[in-house]
Amino acid sequence: MAGRFYITTPIYYVNAQPHIGHAYTTVAADALARFHRLLGEDVLYVTGTDEHGQKNVEAARQAGVTPQEHVDAKAAAFRRLFEQMHCSFDRFIRTTEAEHVRVVQDVFARLRDSGDIYKGQYEGWYCVPCETHFLEKDLVEGKCPDCKRDVRRAQTEAYFFRTSAYAERLLRAIEENPDLIGPESRRNEVVAFVSQGIQDACISRKASEWDIPVPGDPEQTIYVWFDALVNYLTAAGYLQDEAQTAKWWPPDVQLLAKDILVRFHGTIWPAMLMALGLPLPTRIFAHGFWLSADESRGDDVRDRKISKSKGDLVSPYETAAQLADVSGCKMDVAIDAVRYFYLREMSFGLDGVFKLEAVMQRFNDDLANDLGNLLNRTLPLVERFNGGAVPTPGSSAGALAEQICAAAEGAREALVRLDLNGALAAVWQLVGAGNRFVDERAPWDLHKSGKTEELDATLYDLLDCLRAVGILVSPFMPTVAQEIWAQLGIGGYAAEAAWDACVAGRLAPGGRIARTQPIFPRIDLRRAATRLDSRREQEPDRGKAGEKPMADEAIPVEVSIEEFARLDLRVAEITTAERVEGKDRLLKLTVSLGEETRTVAAGIAREFPPETLVGKRVVLVANLKAAKIGGVASHGMILAAGEQVPLAIVTLDRECPLGTKVR
Ligand code: MSP
Repeated sequence: MAGRFYITTPIYYVNAQPHIGHAYTTVAADALARFHRLLGEDVLYVTGTDEHGQKNVEAARQAGVTPQEHVDAKAAAFRRLFEQMHCSFDRFIRTTEAEHVRVVQDVFARLRDSGDIYKGQYEGWYCVPCETHFLEKDLVEGKCPDCKRDVRRAQTEAYFFRTSAYAERLLRAIEENPDLIGPESRRNEVVAFVSQGIQDACISRKASEWDIPVPGDPEQTIYVWFDALVNYLTAAGYLQDEAQTAKWWPPDVQLLAKDILVRFHGTIWPAMLMALGLPLPTRIFAHGFWLSADESRGDDVRDRKISKSKGDLVSPYETAAQLADVSGCKMDVAIDAVRYFYLREMSFGLDGVFKLEAVMQRFNDDLANDLGNLLNRTLPLVERFNGGAVPTPGSSAGALAEQICAAAEGAREALVRLDLNGALAAVWQLVGAGNRFVDERAPWDLHKSGKTEELDATLYDLLDCLRAVGILVSPFMPTVAQEIWAQLGIGGYAAEAAWDACVAGRLAPGGRIARTQPIFPRIDLRRAATRLDSRREQEPDRGKAGEKPMADEAIPVEVSIEEFARLDLRVAEITTAERVEGKDRLLKLTVSLGEETRTVAAGIAREFPPETLVGKRVVLVANLKAAKIGGVASHGMILAAGEQVPLAIVTLDRECPLGTKVR
């Protein structure tokens, strides 16, 4: 009987906009979940959001909503993105769910009863953005070792988890199960970290309104990381349903990036499970980071990865929209193409650089030229030489049988190793073999010379190969797989087929193909570049100060309060202002939002000399899509009055903190 497969992603902090990094882990998990479903396994694939922590209270206050309203909206944005990205998660877990809160408190109480959690004095350092306590020795040049920001002294009474008691057992477990933590380089980091001696982890803090209370101690709330890690247990039914827990525990694969491996998933997490007497996950795998193009060199410190605070947030949906725009493909296909790019471009485990140009290149090379080409060549041949019907194969069919088996075996083996891009490479070997087969067999010649049986066998083999390709690509590109099957005239769903059906000869003869438009129209890369540039230029400054006035008809008569609330307007201070060479209207401004600094381009140079602007408190549209304007990467827009020319900059009539929301 086929087994079961439990796979998790990290649960994401809701204080960021969902971006490529979050989508990557969740899409990778989705491909693995879909693959295991094709193997006939019962799958539990869990993703979700991490919603406690003081940052949310602060963000909610600034947004003028309750913390619950704030996290509800943010969690919905993550969920929506993952759904848009065709992720087929079975459970979207949120740490504010009542059931989870109860499980966290129960786990805490159990570990306190067993002596694994004790109360002590905490003295050390605390990093506010990371919500993490550090010991003196863990600081790097006096700063947070993770985000490199300032830390502050903290001394309080707190609860500790006896991580140190499990160090030896953990090292033994890692040694005995080389698969437990991967890839190898990351496993070595965990071993080095644990071997140098680990301290007990501080897992509570002075009570705060938004975190989970320590059971029986109203003075303390549970540290967000302890709370977050328990999600993997909650989702498996732990302390709620014994049969469910027995079925799903332990996870087969836990995916995350390298940022949260060593301290959390590689150390505290297995120690917590040991303390609870639970089996460890089969595999904890830390992949690399997506970096933005200009950050691809140098070390891999956390703040080099693509992130919101750097202002280089890459929206997966926007990438797909751009791809659909320049290629003319359907949006669902574009989304699948972005999934393909993520999983093919980056070796699972290493870092990768994101460039839209590379997405378009892969779209043309792998999807249009290889996969699309095989389909677009085969179907017209079947129409021309067999009236659009799947021919009867005859005894000479099965010429691609070996290649089909090799691709299915190669991809299976790779996916079991979590080598996602290796699996795609194996599938593309088959696509290549199919394309070569068309050239070698030259069906048009077979037709001309009246070799009907050979012609039928050739066409059948090609259609049958495409059927198998449909199944093989379905974990990565589920909609594309379905399109392929639909064009082949196969009923049912590719994603619901069996991996074992990836053998030659399973296509029923006699069916009718149903060719439609090419799935992947080739992109004209030169035209696409121009189109994307003008798209970027058009978007940022609409309606503002002389740059590009918005057409009257585009201004809606009314907007609802909800529509207005989508604008994130913030108090900001202009800290620097300079002219942009060759652009007589443009100023490059640096504005401070308190914790964050942005670069903003503004078309106000003729009316406002730069030196008159420094120190001004202005209103910034903070969630305007980033864009390049006159060569300046602009992350927001300052408000000004005036239609064609800016007459006045919107300022504030009294002091208020930078970053305050404007409503
Ligand atoms: N809430 C914690 C995780 C708790 S799990 C019990 C957290 N959240 S996070 O929002 O910061 O998400 C971190 C994860 O997002 C990474 O481990 C990775 O899965 C994904 N990524 C975020 N940025 C990324 C890149 N730039 N590149 C690849 N993945 C990255 O940490």
